[in-house]
Amino acid sequence: MVRSADSVGGRWIIAANRGPVEFTIGPDGERIQQRGSGGLVTALSALSPHLSDSMWICAPRTEEDRAVALEAPEGFLTEGGGSYDTAKQRVKVLALDRDSFNQYYSVISNPIIWFVQHNLWDLSNAPNITVAERAAFEHGYRAVNAAFADAIVEAMDDHAGPSTVMIHDYHLYLVGGMVRRARPDATLSHFIHIPWPQPDAWRVLPGWMRQELMLGLVGNDLVAFQTERHARNFLLTCEELLQLPVDYTNNSVWVNGRTVVVRWYPISIDAVQLESFARSEAVSQYEQALENVKREHLIVRVDRTDLSKNILRGFLAYGRMLEKHPDLAGRVTFLAILQPSRQDVAEYTEYTERIFRLVADINLKYGNVEWQPIDLRMEENLAQAVAAFRLFDVLMVNPVNDGLNLVAKEGMLLNERGGVLVLSEHAGVHDEIGAYALSVHPLDIEQQADALHEALFMPVGERRRRHDACVRVIRHNGLGEWFTTQVRDIRALEA
Ligand code: F6P
Repeated sequence: MVRSADSVGGRWIIAANRGPVEFTIGPDGERIQQRGSGGLVTALSALSPHLSDSMWICAPRTEEDRAVALEAPEGFLTEGGGSYDTAKQRVKVLALDRDSFNQYYSVISNPIIWFVQHNLWDLSNAPNITVAERAAFEHGYRAVNAAFADAIVEAMDDHAGPSTVMIHDYHLYLVGGMVRRARPDATLSHFIHIPWPQPDAWRVLPGWMRQELMLGLVGNDLVAFQTERHARNFLLTCEELLQLPVDYTNNSVWVNGRTVVVRWYPISIDAVQLESFARSEAVSQYEQALENVKREHLIVRVDRTDLSKNILRGFLAYGRMLEKHPDLAGRVTFLAILQPSRQDVAEYTEYTERIFRLVADINLKYGNVEWQPIDLRMEENLAQAVAAFRLFDVLMVNPVNDGLNLVAKEGMLLNERGGVLVLSEHAGVHDEIGAYALSVHPLDIEQQADALHEALFMPVGERRRRHDACVRVIRHNGLGEWFTTQVRDIRALEA
């Protein structure tokens, strides 16, 4: 997957909120190790076993993660079987207390920064920056970022040769600046997996907060995004909010005599690993079960229950399609496999409740005793999701805003039926494969309803042509490509 063995030598320090594995206690009191979830974990888990010497630093998410952090302060090797789920990796879970983690994750990162970057605010109601948010920034976000920075410095010092540090995502915006202060010569890169909005979106946050976040980021040598548009928005933000000199030709920013290079690398999937997992017994069992319940046509979506994923409008569009085409009654199913996400954040719990209510309404309105138009499965189950990817006629990916969206790539790669992608023009992946999808505006429910219908009844030749072209692009822009282009640019900075 990673093309040149030389390019991955040296020590790689990966810092990300989520780790490749998560620990829980099973019914018999035994410790269970499971793969962490989310697009970032999927991509980095496929990658890090290929790095000769890597350390993945992450936050504890469960009480058992906390126990592991205390037992193995130096880090540990995950149990690996080499499969898509369980490749071996070196991991260090930070020993963070639950309260700091909650303030960092559930008060600042998700309800505030994620909302700014996905443009999810209803400003008449939120956000309120009260003394509680101020305290959460100081004792949660800043403190946890400092713990990551300390662990990075320790991992660098612990190694004789040079280290390359890759920091990930919106949870860790202060880390680059903190490591830079401790080790001015370090080579630091930060990959931002989610959209970067225009400067004015950041003005929602008070100056002290947005300033600190931005100054942390420009502590890196390389700041990377999924798309050119997000990289450009970042340059504009540096210029407008930090008053830094920006070079729009070379895509760089000057900060205290240093150059910060800004780039974009659309993330991807490891096609070989994913295809081999798709042939596993677990997947074929789910495939068989889905075959048995499916009707003439199958629409699929696989998402976390995140407000940015636009799940409600997707169902409304489907309902509207059923209303416009009553002949489809009993002939189509919308299988929605949703993973509950961030249920400790009020907006997310409320959103999940609204999903259940809307599904019940649509099933009541259009369904009957023998046919439920929407088959909602609220669970985290990779094998089932992969089985659904193989079987869909239409894949619905309609986010309000998304950094990239790996579901679109995974689904189209694995599908066996010339399935059609209905894709939001606001998903980063639209830049790569939008030409082969039916593009929709995420707020235009009528357009999405018509696109679902058009996708279901697209002639076979046209479906095949689009599908094959889309898969060619996905294979060409693989995970190896994502990584090696970054490595090339990081090495150029070191030279
Ligand atoms: O990049 C976005 C991300 O951090 C990815 O890991 C994943 O898509 C999602 O958000 C996971 O969110 P959480 O870790 O809060 O479940």
